[in-house]
Amino acid sequence: MSRHSLAGQRRLVVYATVAVLAVASYWTFFSDGPPILWGPTAKAAEVERGRELFEHQWAANDPLAHGDGLGPVFNARSCVACHFQGGVGGGGANEHNAVSFEVQPRPGDHEFHSGTLHNFSTNPADKETPRKLSALFPVVKGRTTRSSDPHCPTTTTIPDFDPVTVQPVQTTALFGAGWVDLISDRAILKNARNRGLRTLRRELTGEFDNVPVGRVRHVAGGVGKFGWKGQFATLREFVAAACSNELGLGVPGVPQAKPLGTTGGDDPQPDLSREQFGALVAFVKTLPKPVETGTEARGKDLFREVGCAICHVPDIGGVRGVYSDFLLYTLEDPHPPGGGGGSSYSEPPPQLQLPPRPDHEPKPSEWKTPPLWGVADSAPYLHDGSAPTLLAAIQKHRGDAKRVTERFEALPPADKAAVVAFLGTLKAPPTAVPLRDPSVTKLGRK
Ligand code: HEC
Ligand code: HEC
Repeated sequence: MSRHSLAGQRRLVVYATVAVLAVASYWTFFSDGPPILWGPTAKAAEVERGRELFEHQWAANDPLAHGDGLGPVFNARSCVACHFQGGVGGGGANEHNAVSFEVQPRPGDHEFHSGTLHNFSTNPADKETPRKLSALFPVVKGRTTRSSDPHCPTTTTIPDFDPVTVQPVQTTALFGAGWVDLISDRAILKNARNRGLRTLRRELTGEFDNVPVGRVRHVAGGVGKFGWKGQFATLREFVAAACSNELGLGVPGVPQAKPLGTTGGDDPQPDLSREQFGALVAFVKTLPKPVETGTEARGKDLFREVGCAICHVPDIGGVRGVYSDFLLYTLEDPHPPGGGGGSSYSEPPPQLQLPPRPDHEPKPSEWKTPPLWGVADSAPYLHDGSAPTLLAAIQKHRGDAKRVTERFEALPPADKAAVVAFLGTLKAPPTAVPLRDPSVTKLGRK
């Protein structure tokens, strides 16, 4: 082998190494991960079986179930009872809201608790009420102390603190959920990191009119993408939790919800078999993706220009038109010290010296940017359904989104209308299965 060709080979190795490094750094810093070429798929027969389970009206000791069927505690009798707007799998109206609660660590119980206050129970004795909840997690008593100094008597009052926060949450639409499931953690983390870098650059140049970067929610399975608070990383986990919590159906690996205040005891056999649960997941996963109809080019441009797209990122992780960054934000203005303000939550008085709230748990005021696809067909809006219209939803963005809302409000009326009209083009998929029996969405008291 000649010296010449040896040098040539060395050069080749150097070039190849440089190329590999370049690809690797591109991958690390710029790539969202592998592009999503095909959407979620499942066998047609399995999807059909899943649809039947999604629409099935469950009863206690239901013949379709392998355990005790509906309950002991539940919020409705079927998935479709809540998920129906724009077709099977859509969002729901306010009367279907579920009530979630959380309990701050307290003396004697340093654990952070969260759960659902169920609307119904198969056994009247298991009925869950706010009263039962506060009996279980009572108010932490404050106290009044007097100083013993005879020259300067002072009294200090430490107020009581209620450790329980209750928040209603509205039913989200499930269209396109299988696509969200495919968005990689790395794409969400990369977007958050790049936003952080941009913010830093702006701060260095003295530009402060920014939106703070939201928080990534890390949960057991990865980055939390599902639920108003990003409480689950995968669709499968959320579907299992929905079976357990909404209908009281145990699935393999996730037992049915227990009535408030009951612990321990043997879990009955799962209500859904592995095959049934797999079919239900297959149905939800392959629900069609929402569509962007019509051309509201002006509104779409303004949506970007005023800063909506900072949080409602149009395309992420290879999925187009989802309009979310899957990060947590606070859209309330900060509360005045000493509590009060918009939400039912206030910080505990420091003198009570309660154990700290775990940092990784989202605060009651933190919510994940919801995907806006399909938003035209999922009124009312926001986590608690408190905004009846799209305009009202925009105007309620304060806190982290305050600057963007101010820019929106400063637009001429025709431009504001154009932004709202653009949101009006984000529709539920026309291929969604229509509701067979609209009466299933009525929640009769049980
Ligand atoms: C009583 C009403 C109700 C019923 C019944 C119900 N859901 Fe839901 N669903 C909700 C609410 C409310 C949310 C939002 C919860 C949250 O984020 O905390 C939700 C959210 C979801 C999500 C997360 C969607 C996302 O993108 O974040 C999935 C998946 C889901 N439900 C599936 C189901 C399935 C499957 C069933 C039947 C086993 C079901 N749901 C039954 C009310 C309901
Ligand atoms: C700082 C991040 C941020 C910015 C900026 C922002 N949003 Fe949001 N948006 C959110 C979050 C978080 C929510 C959910 C809040 C809640 O439920 O309380 C939300 C909710 C919404 C909803 C309701 C969606 C639903 O399904 O209920 C609409 C509509 C919306 N935003 C539109 C806009 C528009 C239009 C703009 C620009 C004028 C904008 N947003 C700017 C974070 C943001």
